[in-house]
Amino acid sequence: MNTLQIYNVDENVASNAWVDHERYLTLYQQSIDNPEAFWREQGKCINWIKPYTQIRDVDFNYDNLHIRWYYDGTLNACANCIDRHLPTRAHQTAIIWEGDNPSDEAYITYQVLYEKVCQFANALKKLGVKKSDVVTIYMPMIPEAAYAMLACARIGAIHSVVFGGFSSEALANRIDNGLSRVVITADESVRGGKRTPLKENVNTAAKLLKETTLDSVIVVKRTGGDIHWEEGRDYWYDDLVNNASLDCPCEEMDAEDPLFILYTSGSTGKPKGVLHTTGGYMVYASLTYRYVFDYHEGDIYWCTADVGWITGHSYVVFGPLANGATTLMFEGTPTYPDASRCWQIVDKYKVNIFYTAPTAIRALMRFGDEPVKKTSRQSLKLLGTVGEPINPNAWEWYYNIVGKQQCPIVDTWWQTETGGILLTPLPGATNLKPGSATLPFFGIEPALVDDKGSILQDTAEGNLVFLNSWPGQMRTVYQHHERFRNTYFSNFKNMFMTGDRARRDEDGYYWITGRVDDVINVSGHRLGTAEIESALVKHEIVAEAAVVGFPHDIKGQGIYAFVILVVGKEGSKALCEELKLMARQEIGPIAVPDIIQFTPGLPKTRSGKIMRRILRKVASGEFDDLGDISTLADPTIVESLTLNRVIK
Ligand code: WT7
Repeated sequence: MNTLQIYNVDENVASNAWVDHERYLTLYQQSIDNPEAFWREQGKCINWIKPYTQIRDVDFNYDNLHIRWYYDGTLNACANCIDRHLPTRAHQTAIIWEGDNPSDEAYITYQVLYEKVCQFANALKKLGVKKSDVVTIYMPMIPEAAYAMLACARIGAIHSVVFGGFSSEALANRIDNGLSRVVITADESVRGGKRTPLKENVNTAAKLLKETTLDSVIVVKRTGGDIHWEEGRDYWYDDLVNNASLDCPCEEMDAEDPLFILYTSGSTGKPKGVLHTTGGYMVYASLTYRYVFDYHEGDIYWCTADVGWITGHSYVVFGPLANGATTLMFEGTPTYPDASRCWQIVDKYKVNIFYTAPTAIRALMRFGDEPVKKTSRQSLKLLGTVGEPINPNAWEWYYNIVGKQQCPIVDTWWQTETGGILLTPLPGATNLKPGSATLPFFGIEPALVDDKGSILQDTAEGNLVFLNSWPGQMRTVYQHHERFRNTYFSNFKNMFMTGDRARRDEDGYYWITGRVDDVINVSGHRLGTAEIESALVKHEIVAEAAVVGFPHDIKGQGIYAFVILVVGKEGSKALCEELKLMARQEIGPIAVPDIIQFTPGLPKTRSGKIMRRILRKVASGEFDDLGDISTLADPTIVESLTLNRVIK
């Protein structure tokens, strides 16, 4: 670490950045010393129907847990993303859409966005959707996905976006959990020239539902591919909106009314429905967008995330639009038709701010510098990353080759739960160290604690927690408040537990070192190993499965599955394929194991607990360092595991 190069802000500052280092320190100190005053002021970054007088009412204590922000104010999130910009920027582009095929593009102005969203909102109303109903959105990256989210917000419906790469089983679970009556989808999605049958997945999901709440499916025609139609339940989007009124008043929402649910994986059980509310979330998404990306009037901004993830919510849709920005939505993949695609898009639209995941950078690095260098990228002024730690050599490549040493990189740490960015450099204010998410955003109080919950001082490594609330924090697990308390507030008293471990260096910079739980991060996508295990054990000849992550050059972490078969059965290549298919069907392509090792047993303690620490070592080939195995019920199993390790 001593040889690490530090990138000083003055080497590459945008000269008109919102804050410099001094200002960051002053504002940060104020935000911690007097959070009420700080957030009272910052809350004004959005428009309120009835202004708040109350700022926050928070208690992180397990027994009395509650989190409320701006709770006597009222507002509408959609009005903040659209209506309030109409007087000044009706004809400015709100959304640039770039299709999978490089010749497909669209420019949607704020005026057009307003009309599309009003019509969609009226169509939803006509189907009976009311305030606080849950609407499931299962869409490709097309403008209608954003219209759908905003239309829900407009009428006070709670959207639940399900990533279009999830399977029908995963979709069905989420529809059931939210008791959703309406699903919005498309006939097919297109990525990298390949089609995915979204509508067919919805049809399958509808048959799998435990509750029979689903009564309407709205279908956007994307490809015109063949689909099975159910009369009385299915509606073409075009038919619904074409005759709908262009005018739809915004529902007046309380600050703490739900805005959306988004499911995310934990270490145990089914994915959790993370609930975000309206006022605090909008303030936090809006404010962080402006400062972290140093957004200025006229900037063209592109975040490659899918709207199925929190990044797509906060930094494709709500944050940029609340700021009146131009946000680019990209339907395709970074390597189609070739590895130059991202930079061609940057040149085509003169993108100034580019935000992506380390896995995409690593994937592009493999193609060398040429696909990058043949483009100009002159418009770029800021680069960002999110979703997983970025290894320093990928950082250097991003900085030197993509950014031509002219763009700061903001390595932003946050989670679905946090609603917005918590740890990040601010461009022009923070010196950069490759691989570190650096320092807390305003109002954010990180700490490292040992396993007993004692706060560690100075340079240290420990569990990353937050000592106080911020407006964008999740409020509960939808319909499972107990789970919310137990997951985040039971291990350490009066702190929000992130599930990540981190190190703090001599400059107070944070370095994320990994998860403490059984969550793995595959290409920036968060997966619970338990979810993959339950998919695998659905196969009739699988007796038990244990899944761990292992270091993977492109994906960050790959999926390694140890599988025990029922007595008398043997593993085979064909069985591996069947098991991979199980994971694909139950969850989606991102959950397919890279490696499957059949084993007669697993390393278990005498009380029957699987020692995952050992499995992780085996999966990554670190046999020298297996640690203490004397407490195992059957120590010989370790030798069998290491001897039969599968190398891809
Ligand atoms: C987990 C959250 C936040 C939107 C995308 C992921 C990891 C996230 C970073 C970063 C190192 C990171 C953490 C976190 N993570 N950003 N900059 N450096 N790790 O959201 O699916 O809720 O996953 O992603 O482990 O806990 P998510």
